[in-house]
Amino acid sequence: MLIGELISRVETQQRKEWVTNMKNMTIEAMATFCRQYGYIYQGSEIYGGLANTWDYGPLGARLKSNFKDAWRKRFIQERPNSFEIDASILMHPRVWEASGHVSSFHDPKIDCKHCKTRFRADNFISEATDGKVSAEGMSYKEMQDFIRDNHIKCPVCGKTDFTDVRQFSQMFETYRGTLNDNKSVIYLRPENAQGEYVNYLNVLRSTRAKLPFSIGQVGKAFRNEITPGNFTFRTIEFEQMEFQTFCKPGTDLQWYEYFKKYAKKFYMDIGLPKEKLRFHDHEKLVFYAKAACDVEYEFPFGFGELNGTHDRTDYDLLKHQEYSGQKMEYIDPVTNERFVPYIVESTVGVDRGVLALLFEAYHKEELPDSTTREVMKFHPFIAPYKVTVLPLIKKRHSVKATEIYQKLATAFMVDYDESGSIGKRYRRSDIKGTPFAITVDDETICNGTVTIRDRDSMEQITLKVEEVTEYISQRIKF
Ligand code: GAP
Repeated sequence: MLIGELISRVETQQRKEWVTNMKNMTIEAMATFCRQYGYIYQGSEIYGGLANTWDYGPLGARLKSNFKDAWRKRFIQERPNSFEIDASILMHPRVWEASGHVSSFHDPKIDCKHCKTRFRADNFISEATDGKVSAEGMSYKEMQDFIRDNHIKCPVCGKTDFTDVRQFSQMFETYRGTLNDNKSVIYLRPENAQGEYVNYLNVLRSTRAKLPFSIGQVGKAFRNEITPGNFTFRTIEFEQMEFQTFCKPGTDLQWYEYFKKYAKKFYMDIGLPKEKLRFHDHEKLVFYAKAACDVEYEFPFGFGELNGTHDRTDYDLLKHQEYSGQKMEYIDPVTNERFVPYIVESTVGVDRGVLALLFEAYHKEELPDSTTREVMKFHPFIAPYKVTVLPLIKKRHSVKATEIYQKLATAFMVDYDESGSIGKRYRRSDIKGTPFAITVDDETICNGTVTIRDRDSMEQITLKVEEVTEYISQRIKF
């Protein structure tokens, strides 16, 4: 089905409501929008969906891939002594014992005895009190008592009959080999970072890097979250871009401050406005951290974490040294001093970043002719397509337009649209967030020129066909 047909079909009451009230676009409205246009679909939809799994469609997959490229550019390409690796998702089970995940990666769960709904106890308290009470720092017993003493009701069935608060492991287990017994248990990684730590010695040896140096990777992580939700914000399968800087002890806090700001600037460069971003310094630190701070973005449901910067000290390397028996020392080439490096981590969630970029890009505008347009104002670097080629009259201009399309497609992702009026085709291109639209007309055939329309200003300029690739390359730089 053509996207134009889709646009006219989705004029349901719900859609009308959220379009006219776009300033308060809800997460549900965004999910509907994403499904309509091929950004993000419900996972396994034809089977009724698998809760909290999401599939990126043709536009979403390109957007996500470009966001990852933007990260690679800033964190790997433009930083000296930065190396990208691609470690396995399945790792030796001892890795997760050493990291502390097997013993400590738990959430407090509570079940409603009546309707059997499971909640994460700390979130449950916060939601039941409209965020007035934070369970951060409460013991399991204190959370349990708080829920009972305040007669908090199950939001599903209204009863107040709950189990005790108990531990719930966030690790997804699977089995290796032919036996499904305790000895063959392995885990889907809950974070990428350990892949970087267990390869620290390999990278050091094979690259001959000197401190400070960094190892980053982009990849999937899995967490059995009790209360996933808010569309792609909290899911059980997601992607992370984690970046570990190995440095001399004593320089760690300096790197920590540096990466806090570096991460925030990365989000601003890619299109999130400063006023919707904030730092959240952690008061209660997880077991491995000496200092921790998140960059948060203001989603319609409130501020939510996009990134974390953590001073992890030598905790991880010392643990791996203990559990693997391998020495994790670094020998300073100048002083011959031996020490275990400290690690400063900067971690970026891919799916949350993409979600923030979708919210930020969406605009509904009133045009001078009193019509409206929906437009995704992505930074051109992350836009799924860079340019749309539009033959003005299909019969007369499509051969030339196809020729131009093929030439441009060797350099960028190019879209092609020859059906409907030119106005409708511009609207479709806007909804995909394509920064440029080229119209091929008689001038192209006679004089070799095309008009290029800018998505945001809607202004048009004329260029020679052979100038187009260079023009677009300059305009999409990051
Ligand atoms: N290695 C450290 C670490 O994993 P984290 O704060 O637990 O730290 C890093 O996760 C980032 O991964 C978060 O800032 C967030 O963007 C993303 N993330 C974490 N859990 C997620 C989930 N359930 N769904 C989607 N993204 C998640």
